[in-house]
Amino acid sequence: MTSDDLKRIVAERAVDDYVKDGMKVGLGTGSTAYHAIRRVGRLVRENGYNLTCVATSSGTEGLAREYGIDTVSINEVGHLDVTIDGADEVDPEMQLIKGLGGALLREKIVAAASRQEIIVVDESKKVDVLGTRAPLPVEVLAFGHPFVKTALERQGCVATLRMSGGLPFVTDGGNYIYDCKFESINNPFFLESRINVIPGVVDNGLFLNLASTVLVSSSDGTIERKGH
Ligand code: 5RP
Repeated sequence: MTSDDLKRIVAERAVDDYVKDGMKVGLGTGSTAYHAIRRVGRLVRENGYNLTCVATSSGTEGLAREYGIDTVSINEVGHLDVTIDGADEVDPEMQLIKGLGGALLREKIVAAASRQEIIVVDESKKVDVLGTRAPLPVEVLAFGHPFVKTALERQGCVATLRMSGGLPFVTDGGNYIYDCKFESINNPFFLESRINVIPGVVDNGLFLNLASTVLVSSSDGTIERKGH
């Protein structure tokens, strides 16, 4: 199986198991969530499902349109029944790092608004300790961002401004991202509290106690389920 097959089988399983007709559904961002969006599109087009969908990024909004799914603003729905999204790292307690795709802020708001947050990953995303493989993305205001970099590095990381085409990468919210590489994040709750009080920080990619279920696909084709 290719790495894309592993992403596809786990994303499709999540849609088949958790998305029911009439639900309000959050659509994640990234190459794994892409397969979930395609599957949701099939449910809408071929099975006539009536879903109210909210996208976690402008990219996902465009993909949803391509696959025949109408999306609404999160401001129009009170809550979501279920969201299916990917992650960059998952630890044994189902704590996550997200945001390498640049959509962490909307993803976190949608996750917090969802009764069920279903995370779909292949086994390469499993870690014993967060931060050991992926950097932690931190979304910051453009105004004064070099000062935020210094404050972030005081927390023990190397903070690198994310670039795109020679210019700072700009999020859907109009902000910048610093990718913060720690050796490891041994106390994510403490680190999150330290990062979020830095003036200029908008949010960070630690998703703590937000996942209700994690589905992990392995190269032998099996899917492990944690949570409910
Ligand atoms: C985007 C994200 C993605 O969910 C995360 O980066 C995983 O993406 P992929 O499935 O492409 O590996 O957090 O902001």
